[in-house]
Amino acid sequence: MSTGSCPVDHAAAAAGGCPVSPRASAFDPFGPAYQADPPAAVRWSRDEEPVFYSPRLGYWVVTRYDDVKAVFRDNTTFSPSIALEKITPVSAEATATLAKYGYAMDRTLVNEDEPEHMPRRRVLMHPFTPEQLVHHEPMVRRLTREYVDRFVDAGKADLVDEMLWEVPLTVALHFLGVPEEDMATLREYSIAHTVNTWGRPSPEEQVAVAENVGKFWQYAGTVLDKLRQDPSGHGWIPYSIRAQREHPDVITDSYLHSIMMAGIVAAHETTANAAANAIKLLLENRSVWEEICADPGLIPHAVEECLRHSGSVAAWRRLVTRDTTVGGVPIPRGAKLLIVNSSANRDERHFDHPDEVDLRRDNATDHLTFGYGSHQCLGKNLARMELQIFLDELTRRLPHLELVPDQEFTYVPNTSFRGPEHLWVQWDPAANPERADPSIAELRRPVRIGEPSKRGVARTVTVVSVERAAEDVVEVTLAATDGKPLPKWSPGAHVDLQLGELSRQYSLCGDPAEAGTYRIAVLKDPDSRGGSRYMHENLRPGTTLSLRGPRNHFRLDPTARHYVLVAGGIGITPIIAMADHVKAVGGSYELHYCGRDTTAMALLDRCRRDHGDRLHVHTSADGTRLDIAALLANPAEGTQIYACGPERLLDALAEASAHWPDDALHVEHFTTTQQVLDPAVEHAFDVDLADSGLTVRVAADQTVLAALRAAGVDVPSDCEEGLCGTCEVPVLDGEVDHRDVVLTKAERAAGTRMMTCCSRACGDRITLRL
Ligand code: HEM
Ligand code: FES
Repeated sequence: MSTGSCPVDHAAAAAGGCPVSPRASAFDPFGPAYQADPPAAVRWSRDEEPVFYSPRLGYWVVTRYDDVKAVFRDNTTFSPSIALEKITPVSAEATATLAKYGYAMDRTLVNEDEPEHMPRRRVLMHPFTPEQLVHHEPMVRRLTREYVDRFVDAGKADLVDEMLWEVPLTVALHFLGVPEEDMATLREYSIAHTVNTWGRPSPEEQVAVAENVGKFWQYAGTVLDKLRQDPSGHGWIPYSIRAQREHPDVITDSYLHSIMMAGIVAAHETTANAAANAIKLLLENRSVWEEICADPGLIPHAVEECLRHSGSVAAWRRLVTRDTTVGGVPIPRGAKLLIVNSSANRDERHFDHPDEVDLRRDNATDHLTFGYGSHQCLGKNLARMELQIFLDELTRRLPHLELVPDQEFTYVPNTSFRGPEHLWVQWDPAANPERADPSIAELRRPVRIGEPSKRGVARTVTVVSVERAAEDVVEVTLAATDGKPLPKWSPGAHVDLQLGELSRQYSLCGDPAEAGTYRIAVLKDPDSRGGSRYMHENLRPGTTLSLRGPRNHFRLDPTARHYVLVAGGIGITPIIAMADHVKAVGGSYELHYCGRDTTAMALLDRCRRDHGDRLHVHTSADGTRLDIAALLANPAEGTQIYACGPERLLDALAEASAHWPDDALHVEHFTTTQQVLDPAVEHAFDVDLADSGLTVRVAADQTVLAALRAAGVDVPSDCEEGLCGTCEVPVLDGEVDHRDVVLTKAERAAGTRMMTCCSRACGDRITLRL
């Protein structure tokens, strides 16, 4: 731990004295609170001081989702060069020991700056693509089974010692293409090295560590030489040796030696810890574990939710290369940042009720456990595969597994790598399902390569009541069919209902505090594509439906000083939830509800009852139409406008608020005109990815989003029909054929952003900042 000096110019900070708050100055990432639960230990920071200077660490600490992601995104301003720097400085004696072994570990991808990093990543990434990873599945499966076989009849095991440590290490060695006969030795060195690297070794311990690291380095060189003699085999290293022949200037000898060693480290402990965290979390949330046992189709989603909730990389590091700001806080050039991605993953500004484990959470894959942007973990899909196979084998063969009660979990004290050192579990071997039916041990369930589909997980709900809410509007109350409470939600959230072949979005309009049920209001639309008509004609108490969500792309900014809430017609549904919330927290707001006439306006009685003089009703029948120009004539600082309703209302609001600050108006559309892609009409084109230096071909019947995913590039998505804005990416060059309803006219004309789920290139190519 280094003790940095206070970076603030005290003379300039003058009157208030040193602005480092008491909590910031007390922050200790090696202390018991952070070690026990990093995101909980910095909750105060997320709430009160999301970017702060830690004098104990000599780092600036960043804890909110948007800020952490922004830092990951900009690898020029925020250099990754210190990502692997030892927080504990190395002693002179240890340095001399390393020199004795000719230790010359170079930079390796994760801590490399541009312009060196991208050309290397491009040349080396092929073995990580989904199509290549498929070939490793049988190996991961075989290894996992071998290890489970060893303890399945024991009744008690430390999963870390008996499986989760060694399987990822052996997988890493196979992935690298290390010959079997060298695995045992490398394993020995690697364990010694990783056990010690992230701790706080004393000067004497450092020398012992250096001895092992030196030997590890030498042995990695020996294995590399052997592979060089015949590099025709499978694996990342033989592949890289072949790549070196074509790109000798990009992949040098010393670089190969470095990735040989660093590859093991990158792939091993991260995954071992992630697996231990995941199994611990699921067993602590027994009903979730049981859900997976009953429906293994949930496993890919469980993996993602566990990576979000209890990921194995708790924080990462960046060096600031120019004076800049993070979350509005000025940060000087040369400052070091600790970006607490585990805290970002529990930020309620991005994830609803983030401390809960929800296998059907729609945005779980937005987590930052694998980092984000041009350095995002290359091995993420191998790790996902391993985690899925571990969960599949354990939930199937040992569904009655439970944590040994009252065990104390210990963690190696460090800022970043996190997982319990031991994980004791117990079970009754006599109750192992495979004793009654041996075929259970042989089953295998398909692994999903890549992130799980957001469209995949639905829950079954039952209609509790259907009530008339206005002319042509019904209010429907839904409850989970299994009797469990439905997940909590926040104002602005919506759910997707599967209605036969159709999927439709409905905003939640009940009281978020109402225990475990949802309310939606559905307008019978004469132009309905089937959804609303189906709802009006077929829903009865007892009808079951398939529901996804809730998800929220229409989130209230809690910091606004005043809210102008505008609803048109059935657009009242998210808006009433917002009004209820602002009222409940004592905020300042006005609610404008526009409609044809009051008989057609749903929830009007509730608005009148609960929102009294804050409510302004505007109807064309009474000649009290909303004068939008007058309403928005004077931009007011700190005022945010939230609106939902017909397109013409939203367009008029956009026009009338053109002179407001850019982010003042927030709207929610509820329709799209997405069509199936017809290859006879569409054309194929190339997408150049400026950050990753890749070119991806998009076929005529393929979306940009699908083509990017096939190339291993994650782009978050949600609605996948141009409605929500989740899949937006920056456009650097090329004309876009916009097909979404998210961007305004002006934004489309600017041509700097596009929705990858639906929009396409007008010409033969387009360049994205990805
Ligand atoms: C980079 C996490 C598994 C190989 C990273 C980064 C993180 C990370 C946080 C830095 C990202 C950034 O700077 O934006 C994890 C976690 C894993 C895991 C949590 C397991 C759950 C693996 C595996 C492999 C691997 C299995 C190899 C087979 C790499 C490589 C990079 C990297 C090569 C450097 C990429 C670059 O800088 O271009 N990982 N990792 N990781 N990881 Fe992983
Ligand atoms: Fe919703 Fe593309 S995923 S707009």
